[in-house]
Amino acid sequence: MSLRDRIAELEAELRKAEARTAEEVERFRVAMLGRNGAVTELFARFRQVGAEEKRELGQRLNRLKQDAQARWEELRQGVDDSRPPKACEEGDPTRPAALDPIGGAHPIGLVRDRIVEVFRGIGFTVSQGPEVEDDHHNFSALNFPPDHPARDMQDTFFVEGGKEHSLRTHTSSVQVRVMESTAPPIRTISPGRVYRNEAISARAHAMFHQVEGLYVDKDVSFAELKGTLDHFVKTLFGPGMGIRMRPSYFPFTEPSAEVDMNCTICGGDGCAVCKQSGWVEIMGCGMVDPAVLANCGIDPTIWSGFAFGMGVERIAQLMYRVPDLRLYWENDMRFLEQFRDGTFRT
Ligand code: DAH
Repeated sequence: MSLRDRIAELEAELRKAEARTAEEVERFRVAMLGRNGAVTELFARFRQVGAEEKRELGQRLNRLKQDAQARWEELRQGVDDSRPPKACEEGDPTRPAALDPIGGAHPIGLVRDRIVEVFRGIGFTVSQGPEVEDDHHNFSALNFPPDHPARDMQDTFFVEGGKEHSLRTHTSSVQVRVMESTAPPIRTISPGRVYRNEAISARAHAMFHQVEGLYVDKDVSFAELKGTLDHFVKTLFGPGMGIRMRPSYFPFTEPSAEVDMNCTICGGDGCAVCKQSGWVEIMGCGMVDPAVLANCGIDPTIWSGFAFGMGVERIAQLMYRVPDLRLYWENDMRFLEQFRDGTFRT
């Protein structure tokens, strides 16, 4: 091929040249401009060119070399230096594995487990019951009168086919199941999901979690109930924390109380969560009503007991300082990832 034709061929080749990686750029440089490269080689041949063509071909050759250098520069800028070397792109087996993120425990599950651990530590077993419950276990055996508002459509999600079955409105239904199937003494807690027909807001949700507690033995006292709950709060939140009790009413306990603990958010100074009182309500409790024991086949002249039921979301709120309940159900990774290592911000 004449020198003239070869120059034309290389000019076309330059225009078409592509490089995706730094390695390919280097290959281009060596092929064109290297010591044995195509352009360099033409300069060697140029020495044999006759005088009449020397001037014209000399100019074209010089332009070809400049074009090759410019193209090389262009290609060099076109590749991203931060790209991994080719071996890695194709799967370098010595490279450390890039692990997919693994899932973590949900904050509500973490708090539930912590609550369970405290009670297991003082001899309570864990028991469970169904989420679709019958009227007997959710209401009747617990002394709810037939016209009690909790039985109302407004509060309860009934399952199709009448009012016999509903989504349980509290874990107190598991108390009944345990007492019906277990001879005292009983010490058990029942964590689980419960449902209420509520408008969803920052402070209320139609599904939430409770941990129920039931203690049945001989001569059980209210002081034992209070001591147990105080131990629970101190173990979970620290020895400086405590409870107070306020008289209340539940159909299945007599007497009944509501339990407040020191507000962890403001340390007692008063804030929006504790409504400026320094105390936050965390559960209901009381001495098991003798009629409930009898309903469940336990002789109330021999046995007595206490019970309590707490909201897991409320405990979580005090632990994590999360003000809006809806966050627990949105499955937003940015929220959930903060709990992945299971640490607590108490
Ligand atoms: N079941 C009640 C509720 O959901 C909470 C409760 C109160 C449970 C008193 C108890 C108890 O075991 O003794 O609001």
